[in-house]
Amino acid sequence: SRIKDVQFVKSSPRAKDCPKDDRPEFAILGRSNVGKSSLINSLVRKKELALTSKKPGKTQLINHFLVNKSWYLVDLPGYGFAKASESAKTDWSSFTKGYFLNRNTLVSVLLLIDASVPPQRIDFDCANWLGRNDIPITFVFTKCDKMKVAKGKRPDENIKEFQEIIKQNYKQHPPWIMTSGVTGLGRDELLLHVSQLRNY
Ligand code: GTP
Ligand code: MG
Repeated sequence: SRIKDVQFVKSSPRAKDCPKDDRPEFAILGRSNVGKSSLINSLVRKKELALTSKKPGKTQLINHFLVNKSWYLVDLPGYGFAKASESAKTDWSSFTKGYFLNRNTLVSVLLLIDASVPPQRIDFDCANWLGRNDIPITFVFTKCDKMKVAKGKRPDENIKEFQEIIKQNYKQHPPWIMTSGVTGLGRDELLLHVSQLRNY
């Protein structure tokens, strides 16, 4: 399940502009600042590789990366930007929904959840929308190393609270993995999970 090779393929403004859907793919999704870039960089072990878009809320592109010449890792714009205009938010949702609903080779959405903050409404809205549309998700909790949080609870307490709420909406709790871009926690587990789903 090692990543030996990552190639940028293309940035697509719309679902229909994406590369031919002829390989399994995994989409990375989450709130702005959740740690998407950090997670991707830790997965591919290239700190300098800026795989995600730089300007939150402005770049609205679907970015395809070909991993080991066999599967796609897809970087999507984050949601919930404090500074994005209302129209930008609307564009985001219609564009991303188009991708989710039409991409036949999408194996699972890796939905990143910041474990250093209490459960957020917008994350549940997103998870519930994907669930209603039968799109498989894997919860990837980020920033699990952050044990000293200025206010509030520890990551494990936030995760527990998050899962209690998820249980009310799912018959079966989707798979979940605890990660940290700082310590590398969960890196191998996530890669193994992805390779198992690919070969399923
Ligand atoms: P946008 O591209 O702006 O949407 O953000 P992003 O989701 O790509 O987040 P990014 O990886 O840029 O990380 C945001 C901030 O959180 C940075 O200051 C990171 O250093 C920090 N961060 C990300 N992952 C971790 C983690 O696992 N642990 C800790 N302690 N900090 C993290
Ligand atoms: Mg980023």
